Amino acid sequence: MRAIVFAELGGPEVLSVAEVPKPELRPGMVLVKNHAVGVNFADTRFRQGTYAVKPRLPDTPGLEAAGTIEAVGEGVTNLRPGVRVAAFASKTYAEYCLAQAFMIIPLPDDVSFVDGAAFPIQVLTAYHLLHTAGSTGPGKSVLVHSAAGGVGLAAVQLAKIAGARVFGTVSSNAKAGLVKECGADAIINYTTDKFADEVLRLTDGRGVDLILDAVGKPTFEEGLRCLAPFGHLILYGRAGGSPDPLNVSTLSAKSQRVSGFMLPTVTRGLPDQTRESAERCFALMRDGRLRLHIGRTFPLAEAIEAHRYLESRQSTGKLVLLP
Ligand SMILES: NC(=O)c1ccc[n+]([C@@H]2O[C@H](COP(=O)([O-])OP(=O)(O)OC[C@H]3O[C@@H](n4cnc5c(N)ncnc54)[C@H](OP(=O)(O)O)[C@@H]3O)[C@@H](O)[C@H]2O)c1
Repeated sequence: MRAIVFAELGGPEVLSVAEVPKPELRPGMVLVKNHAVGVNFADTRFRQGTYAVKPRLPDTPGLEAAGTIEAVGEGVTNLRPGVRVAAFASKTYAEYCLAQAFMIIPLPDDVSFVDGAAFPIQVLTAYHLLHTAGSTGPGKSVLVHSAAGGVGLAAVQLAKIAGARVFGTVSSNAKAGLVKECGADAIINYTTDKFADEVLRLTDGRGVDLILDAVGKPTFEEGLRCLAPFGHLILYGRAGGSPDPLNVSTLSAKSQRVSGFMLPTVTRGLPDQTRESAERCFALMRDGRLRLHIGRTFPLAEAIEAHRYLESRQSTGKLVLLP
């Protein structure tokens, strides 16, 4: 089968198309023929060797895909060939991927393969940041950093659906309109304005109840400055580098909380909650309340371009590869 491989760590140029053996089916596993493959920021880190999971060279990037089940391994009784699914897996930048049966989400007929591939990581990360790791609702406020990105646009919409007041940050005014369309109450350009000052102004000096931060170094300390009493900052990525170490005793003055989040804690540890949350999000998509913004699709062979585009900070929403 055709797959994207890299034999050395580095920039997008280390990726190339190669013929590799189709994954071998094993007990408890499901072989999926990929129709669409989700691109995540983590894939660019994996390619550089700076992600939590290290590549075993030569390796293939990719953590999710949507397609049809080609075959099921011994012991898999709840899934069968031909079913349309989304999968959390590894090495998904390819024509086929292998996933553990409990990491498969059946796709409703009204969800396209492209939306199916766009959905698992970014939408469920946004959902579980807001409702499992953190909480929000009417009368509460949420600050979503890099709000025009894949996780960001989903988080803005899901926080609005929950009834919160939502602020989003973006690095260019070109991205602001999209975040506004997704329902954000205020959008701040965090490359030209001090976002903490703006948040404090918008909240009459109180600050926000929840901050979703996957940028890290440039935003973490400033975030604590505009976090409300009893507020919660969740650090779930570090696109801009790791923040400086935190002296936790500084949190006491306003009874604030800082925590981390990794989606696999939910998908691997809480499979029932994963499915339940996926079904809730599918229902919201069906009602038109949650819209997945597919920023661009690329042929699988153009994975280099997809990574360049994502790392350039020009992309919005989800990037999808088509095998
Ligand atoms: N913990 C988890 O389980 C989990 C799961 C999914 C994603 N994540 C993290 O969430 C973040 C968003 O992921 P995503 O896949 O949805 O990507 P994305 O938001 O679509 O793209 C990354 C965005 O990060 C912002 N950014 C800030 N500083 C950057 C820098 N120095 N270089 C590049 N981009 C920078 C850019 O938005 P602006 O230009 O508007 O700032 C860029 O568009 C990533 O940090 C990712 O690692 C974590």
